[in-house]
Amino acid sequence: MAYQQDLFQAPADAAQASAAGKTSLSGVRDSARACRACPLWKGATQTVFGEGPSDASLLFVGEQPGDAEDIAGRPFVGPAGRIFDRALVEAGIERKYVYVTNAVKHFKFEQRGKRRLHKRPDTREIEICRWWISRELELIEPNLVVALGATAARSLAGRPMPIERSRGELMPLGSNGARMLITVHPSYLLRLREEEDREREYGRFVDDLKLVASAQKR
Ligand code: URA
Repeated sequence: MAYQQDLFQAPADAAQASAAGKTSLSGVRDSARACRACPLWKGATQTVFGEGPSDASLLFVGEQPGDAEDIAGRPFVGPAGRIFDRALVEAGIERKYVYVTNAVKHFKFEQRGKRRLHKRPDTREIEICRWWISRELELIEPNLVVALGATAARSLAGRPMPIERSRGELMPLGSNGARMLITVHPSYLLRLREEEDREREYGRFVDDLKLVASAQKR
């Protein structure tokens, strides 16, 4: 895929708005609607920006919107979102108090007949979209950021992070005392074929979220 310099228009607009003192989460969300910084906007229905309280102390980052999210314009409302919601409840975390977003804000897919099959965003797309997630982090200033899967971890850390080795550990993020915890992406649980594996891995996912809940209380 070609990336042209003139496709960086939207972040430049948002940077100008910021310089003019107009930066707010809703301002950034508005700017993101017109993002053409990489070609993913072409196939997607819309930009799916994060949602949740602008002063949330806990922020979750997924990979990118899926088919359902692309249509709804909201993160984690499809099958992965349903598992995520169930695990949050089991861990004692109320979704209405957390901010949920994605590393990449447009749905990347491959058309197969009528179906749109998810395609992983590549490093360049993740890097380009870091501009938006950085604004979300700056404006929300969460204490704890949870990376759901490798794309989110890569976006937050700025480099590849081995999920299994770093999983469930509270790590420093940035310079303002915030911490990050890496866990698996809920879609990983959906891909497991054996019931036994699904149950075990779901339990591990809930345990990671319980750790998040207890770290938030401290
Ligand atoms: N997967 C993600 O990473 N994010 C969503 O919003 C939905 C599915």
